[in-house]
Parts: sequence; structure tokens; C-alpha cells
Amino acid sequence: MDFLTQSTHVHITTWVIALILFFVALRKPSTGIHMGLRLFYVLILITGFALFVTFDSLNPMLYGLKMLGGLVAIGLMEMTLVRKKKGKKNGGVFAGALAVLLITIILGFALPGIA
Ligand code: HEM
Repeated sequence: MDFLTQSTHVHITTWVIALILFFVALRKPSTGIHMGLRLFYVLILITGFALFVTFDSLNPMLYGLKMLGGLVAIGLMEMTLVRKKKGKKNGGVFAGALAVLLITIILGFALPGIA
């Protein structure tokens, strides 16, 4: 499974597609798009964990925080869509999702990669 860990490109592809599906589902709720998004959550997790266990890092704590950020971001994205579907207020979880996504992306790019 080298292709998963030789570079971060597969991981980046999975979360970029997930973000696109998330914003499409938010504007125009659709069960199909939401199911597609859930599939991409799984792909993000697989590629993220593969990188996590492979990459040697001088800074394990930041890697831990990066993983936590990714997990929380996925949780908040899912909560945002489910609350919208149920007609509940979702402004708070949506703002949280955006904030955690931003932190995760900054942290991800700040990490040294294959160091
Ligand atoms: C929506 C969720 C996520 C976003 C937006 C995201 C974003 C990113 C970004 C921007 C990078 C940097 C890529 C690069 O430098 O080439 C990255 C790398 C990485 N991600 Fe994620 N990620 C997410 C979820 C996860 C999850 C759930 C995990 C762990 C299970 C994870 C583990 C990693 C690891 C280990 C790296 C390698 C860090 C490095 O560049 O050294 N990510 N991610």
C-alpha cells in the first residue's frame, strides 16, 4: 500500500473532495451527496491513519493534534449536516467545523511531511 504513504497527495485529494461534497450538501441537501461524503470520511481516515503510522516525526505531539483535529473536523461536519436535516440550529457546529478545519489544514501543511 505504498501509494498511500509515498506522498500526502492521496490524503489531500480525499479531504478536498470531502469539503466540496460538504458544501454542496449544505447548500442543497441530498441524501446521495451525504452518503458520498460519508464514504470520503472513511477514505480520509484510511489515508490519514496510513500517514500517521508511517511518518517518523520529530514532533509526535503535533502529529497527534493534527490527527485529533481531523477527527473532530469530520465529526463537526457530520453534525452540521445532520442538524440541518433535522431542522435544528446548526450555526454553532458549522462555525466550529470551519474553525477546526482551518486549524487542521494549517497544522497539516506546517508538519514536515516525510521528515
Ligand atoms: C477533514 C479532515 C482533514 C483535513 C482537512 C486534513 C488536512 C491535511 C493537510 C492539509 C495535510 C498536509 C499535507 C501536506 O503537507 O502535504 C495533512 C496531512 C496529514 N494528515 Fe490530514 N487532514 C484531515 C484528516 C486527517 C485524519 C482523520 C488523520 C488521521 C487519522 C490525518 C492524518 C494526517 C497525517 C498523519 C498527515 C501527514 C502530515 C505531514 O504532512 O507530515 N488527517 N492533512
